[in-house]
Amino acid sequence: MKNFKEWFSDRVAKTTTKTFVPLTSRIRLEQSIFPLSDEQFLHTKVAAEADVDGILAVERACYDGLTPWNRSAILHEIRFNKNAFYLIVYDHKEPVAFIGSWFVAKEAHITNIATIPAYQKKGIATYMLKEIINIAEKEDIKEVTLEVRVSNKTAQSLYETIGFERGRIKKDYYANDHEDALEMRYELDVQQAEREALDSGYE
Ligand SMILES: CC(C)(COP(=O)(O)OP(=O)(O)OC[C@H]1O[C@@H](n2cnc3c(N)ncnc32)[C@H](O)[C@@H]1OP(=O)(O)O)[C@@H](O)C(=O)NCCC(=O)NCCS
Repeated sequence: MKNFKEWFSDRVAKTTTKTFVPLTSRIRLEQSIFPLSDEQFLHTKVAAEADVDGILAVERACYDGLTPWNRSAILHEIRFNKNAFYLIVYDHKEPVAFIGSWFVAKEAHITNIATIPAYQKKGIATYMLKEIINIAEKEDIKEVTLEVRVSNKTAQSLYETIGFERGRIKKDYYANDHEDALEMRYELDVQQAEREALDSGYE
């Protein structure tokens, strides 16, 4: 698991400090209802302490019963880390997906994203990533970043579809099995310029 303190001090060392209101207090979701079909709607909320069990349940369903981010790590994120921002998606009372992120300085970093198998390939992860990108745009963030296992082709394909670019390989990144990670990056200025060029019919 990534060490937030190390990652954070690396970023804030390069920026000035300003009065800080946690994201969870000031953000409104662009779209808190996700339509699966004409009759089935999922609900998204900014995760609070009451959602920790839900996040752990999604992790277990996605990682063979394991929780790479355990209860105390998730609880710490939600209770104490003012730069952390988690969304959780429910089908009625059943937690079906979540995304975790850190917003620091000009970067939003996706720490984890998961959709339980029965709800995969319905656009839920795409929707969650786009919500984070929308928030990043409003927060004047320059880039959204993440790391993904080199073997995780499903996730890499999803990120590329959304517009993330492949970056460098980080050797031995994962502590448990030493697999390499691929760094991926979504540059908001570049994507914005491409959208404007398409809108104006100029490529
Ligand atoms: C990676 C993961 C989060 C993707 O979640 P998801 O909700 O299935 O993602 P989406 O449905 O938004 O997109 C997945 C694919 O299904 C496609 N899709 C979306 N809606 C679809 C639909 N209605 N019908 C068919 N395909 C659809 C997407 O286009 C995407 O295809 P692409 O990869 O070719 O672009 C999920 O597989 C997962 O939880 N894996 C285990 C945990 C994990 O690996 N997390 C990533 C850590 S870096």
